[in-house]
Amino acid sequence: MSAPPFLGRAPGKLILFGEHAVVYGHPALAMAVDRGTTVRLTPGEGPRRVRAAAMEDPRLPVALDALLPAQGLDVQIDTELPVGRGMGSSGSLAVALVRAWAAWQGRTASLQECIERGFRLERLFHGNPSGLDHTVSARGCALRYRRGSAGLQLEEIRLGPLPLVVLDTGKAGDTAELVAGVAARRPQVDPLLERIGALVLEVGPALEAGDLPVLGEAMRENQRLLAEIGVSSPEIESLVAFARTHGALGAKLAGAGGGGVVIALHPRPDELVAAAAEAGIEAFAVGPAR
Ligand code: PMV
Repeated sequence: MSAPPFLGRAPGKLILFGEHAVVYGHPALAMAVDRGTTVRLTPGEGPRRVRAAAMEDPRLPVALDALLPAQGLDVQIDTELPVGRGMGSSGSLAVALVRAWAAWQGRTASLQECIERGFRLERLFHGNPSGLDHTVSARGCALRYRRGSAGLQLEEIRLGPLPLVVLDTGKAGDTAELVAGVAARRPQVDPLLERIGALVLEVGPALEAGDLPVLGEAMRENQRLLAEIGVSSPEIESLVAFARTHGALGAKLAGAGGGGVVIALHPRPDELVAAAAEAGIEAFAVGPAR
């Protein structure tokens, strides 16, 4: 049995290609990233004490109550993810919590358990999550996925080198509102959604081979299409332009848009991170979780 604190850790995610089109049955690509959330459980005296810093949220105690005793176990939550920016912070918290809880019981949580219990916890945070975030988080890999009547269809993909930088707009996009906006612009936007879906299939080989010029071009096209369907924003466009001016091969919003984060493909990510820091933009290099 492991000694306290009992630890659980799980990565966040990025949608690389295919957001919004995936709502209409097209495939999308997401990747677990090398940043995540850590939960530490420590035996304590009396009522549960919680330290959650950036993840402090009125719904957090409800999720903790679903899994942990109210007494005698303190909780510390730390995340390296920007919260509320489409990087799956609550999905990673849900999976990290399941893992820490299992460690406290002296065992390792299975993948299925992380996915099932993780989803129940994420529902407490989100109401109606798509199920993608905690799945990518629990699996810790890159996935091509499609949403069908039977739920998520997943296909694990192997990634070649993928030097990415995340640039933060500093604003949260409202996923439900953005998805509803796209729905209201159908059927006019259907050909654009279809093209996004086709792009997801086309980039598969380039992702596996780490073909950066092809991936950069695909990101530029995906961003143009996302802008055309109406989910970009001035902040996103300005970060995309900044990244391109500073040598990115391509850049796009990642997630629902309207704010959130931009991902940029750059052969020398540290240069872009440094340029962003100088310009007062929150940015960091990011890679696959493993
Ligand atoms: O905000 P995120 O990263 O959870 O992304 C939402 C992705 C959408 O395709 C816009 C919606 C969805 O449910 O897939």
